[in-house]
Amino acid sequence: MLVALLLLLALSDGVRVNGDGGGRQCESSPALKPRPHTVSILEFGAVGDGKTLNTIAFQNAIFYLKSFADKGGAQLYVPTGTWITQSFNLTSHLTLFLEKGAVIIGSQDPFHWDVVDPLPSYGRGVEVPGGRYQSLINGYMLHDVVITGNNGTIDGKGLAWWELFSSHSLNHSRPHLIELVASDHVVVSNLTFLNAPAYSIHPVYCSNVHIHNVSISAPPESPYTVGIVPDSSDLVCIEDCIIATGYDAIALKSGWDEYGIAFGRPTENVHIRRVHLQAASGSTIAFGSDMSGGISNVLVENVHLYNSESGIEFRTTRGRGGYMKEIMISDIEMKNIYTAIAASGHCGSHPDDKFDPHALPLLDRIVLQDMLGTNITIAGSFAGLQESPFNNICLSNITLSLNSASSITWECSNVFGFSDSVLPKPCPELETFSHCLSLPSINMKTAVM
Ligand SMILES: *[C@@H]1O[C@H](CO)[C@@H](O)[C@H](O)[C@H]1NC(C)=O
Ligand SMILES: *[C@@H]1O[C@H](CO)[C@@H](O)[C@H](O)[C@H]1NC(C)=O
Ligand SMILES: *[C@@H]1O[C@H](CO)[C@@H](O)[C@H](O)[C@H]1NC(C)=O
Ligand SMILES: *[C@@H]1O[C@H](CO)[C@@H](O)[C@H](O)[C@H]1NC(C)=O
Ligand SMILES: *[C@@H]1O[C@H](CO)[C@@H](O)[C@H](O)[C@H]1NC(C)=O
Ligand SMILES: *[C@@H]1O[C@H](CO)[C@@H](O)[C@H](O)[C@H]1NC(C)=O
Ligand SMILES: *[C@@H]1O[C@H](CO)[C@@H](O)[C@H](O)[C@H]1NC(C)=O
Repeated sequence: MLVALLLLLALSDGVRVNGDGGGRQCESSPALKPRPHTVSILEFGAVGDGKTLNTIAFQNAIFYLKSFADKGGAQLYVPTGTWITQSFNLTSHLTLFLEKGAVIIGSQDPFHWDVVDPLPSYGRGVEVPGGRYQSLINGYMLHDVVITGNNGTIDGKGLAWWELFSSHSLNHSRPHLIELVASDHVVVSNLTFLNAPAYSIHPVYCSNVHIHNVSISAPPESPYTVGIVPDSSDLVCIEDCIIATGYDAIALKSGWDEYGIAFGRPTENVHIRRVHLQAASGSTIAFGSDMSGGISNVLVENVHLYNSESGIEFRTTRGRGGYMKEIMISDIEMKNIYTAIAASGHCGSHPDDKFDPHALPLLDRIVLQDMLGTNITIAGSFAGLQESPFNNICLSNITLSLNSASSITWECSNVFGFSDSVLPKPCPELETFSHCLSLPSINMKTAVM
């Protein structure tokens, strides 16, 4: 009774404290107002026959819709059909709406894709030094953009790109399906994303991003395909999504070594809930390895993780600097996962030889609670850095059923933490503390334990 009351107080307090966003971003979903003007892509000469290249139609339509920005914005309607295009740029106060049966397909000819500058927080393309291929749908310094529909599809037809990647024949880093740079008040909802060349949705240097009810898939063997990558962005909500990818399903990032440190923009105030994730060779929920701008105040709850190499993974390395802290993950179901929880301080490469090996990353105040896992091979693998051990890892109410292939249950080095009701019994390093430090800015149950 008293506990319940305290809990209530803590939660209501949390809502008040976090009135400015806090870790519960999904609870303040934006109300979408219909746009006063709508035009169809047909009015710009587009042909949805799956053969005609419609890049000019998209570019012209959006150029025309710019003039409605100060009149409440406008909607670009894409009717049922198969619409081939190369990359195009969005504009502010725009809704891109894909009708049921509307499929936007990225043209597969890598020879004709524009190359854009690398992101300043990465200093170079992440796969190949230098510039990067422009993503299929782009936004730069926009305000109030909605990409939605009645379950229309955006299909990157990534095979050509995956083959170039696997044969080391890429001249520039692969494009993404959607990339929004330095934009705010962005909504992506009610759509299906298929076969991204690399990432499906990449908000970078963005604020107020709401990703709701999208389904993302890429084949399990597609190399390093990632679903959603919030990157140096804040006030992000991801909810009610189904994601199955080749590498990570959701990866939080914030820049690469000296470039990310100099740029200094963290990913913070992120809320993820009610998601079903599969990540064949990566992690369903990943932090890093590019995290030089810092990642903090993240709340993940009610997640279902299946058929993956790892469930929840923190990745970093010497030279990254930055931090991953105040992260709370709760109410987790895992099935058929090789390593349930992983944290490594020896993961990831460097952009060039100018990184500072003394820039040590920090991993601190991570809470994992209320987790049930079946068919797990390794319960937890923690490898901190000797000069910067992982600290205040707090595990509570976790039950993992290991399969018969399991020979190591927990691997721990350079880590300190607290455990309560964790099965199988964790390594002594995770039982160093007598209680769990509260996470002030997220303010969860643990705060009153
Ligand atoms: C799209 O935006 C990028 C910069 O973000 C710019 O380099 C490119 O020229 C733009 N493309 C078009 C067609 O406007
Ligand atoms: C990559 O560059 C090489 C050398 O300039 C060129 O022969 C090749 O066609 C290019 N490949 C692509 C996919 O652009
Ligand atoms: C999710 O999107 C589908 C279409 O893509 C729609 O039918 C369904 O109502 C949406 N669900 C919610 C909760 O918005
Ligand atoms: C949305 O479309 C995808 C592929 O077009 C389909 O697999 C899925 O079942 C559809 N979802 C809904 C809710 O209609
Ligand atoms: C998604 O679709 C549902 C059903 O059509 C609609 O009620 C909801 O407003 C849409 N959500 C967003 C965020 O577009
Ligand atoms: C157990 O999980 C592994 C992946 O770690 C998978 O290959 C295997 O098929 C799963 N076994 C069962 C019985 O589902
Ligand atoms: C422990 O976690 C399970 C989910 O795995 C949940 O159903 C249960 O309520 C939790 N127990 C407590 C005491 O919070």
